[in-house]
Amino acid sequence: MNWKNYINLTKNKPPHENTVKGFDYVKTPNSVLDVAAGGFRDSKWFVGHFKHIYAMDMVLAIEPPIGVSFRKTEFKDFKSPGHFDMVNAQYALPFAEDYFYPVWREIIKSIKPEGVFVGNFFGIKDGWNTPDSKIKFITKPEFDRMFRDFNIVYFEEVKKEDKTISGFLKFWHLYEVIAVKKPVN
Ligand SMILES: C[S@@+](CC[C@H](N)C(=O)[O-])C[C@H]1O[C@@H](n2cnc3c(N)ncnc32)[C@H](O)[C@@H]1O
Repeated sequence: MNWKNYINLTKNKPPHENTVKGFDYVKTPNSVLDVAAGGFRDSKWFVGHFKHIYAMDMVLAIEPPIGVSFRKTEFKDFKSPGHFDMVNAQYALPFAEDYFYPVWREIIKSIKPEGVFVGNFFGIKDGWNTPDSKIKFITKPEFDRMFRDFNIVYFEEVKKEDKTISGFLKFWHLYEVIAVKKPVN
């Protein structure tokens, strides 16, 4: 993937609809982490909605928005920079490939009790699921296991033919999710 190109094509797009929807479930909008933030389309929206905004990505192709603390890091070295009221990971975690589960465990740890996770995952029927693709695809039972510590407040399985950001038609198989971490007993 040419991520610089992707970032330039998306940097002026509005925030993802589910990111905005997920904010409705945040009780205390103190801190948020945008994982693999790309062109900062969601991070930018977080400015003015949260007090502290953190973003990470292995590529920095444009200046981070004012008010966003950016850390340039790869998934293989990912360590959460704190504890968050919301973690947002849009079209992000599938690209952690071999590091998918370590990164996911780090994300779970970093979400405060009753904090919110918003993001999406690629299902196994996705058109990019070929033996040489360096992307993580998951089954629904895997998805369910990943969210044991959460209450799912929004879930949608998307199966559709649609264009990529670069304009190529592909089959999308996505699990879209908004989930609230269970409180500690
Ligand atoms: C499909 S883009 C999504 C960007 C943004 N979340 C959005 O929805 O517009 C995937 C992002 O993952 C980042 N990425 C890909 N592989 C990565 C890795 N191994 N470590 C950290 N970031 C990575 C890319 O730089 C890119 O910004």
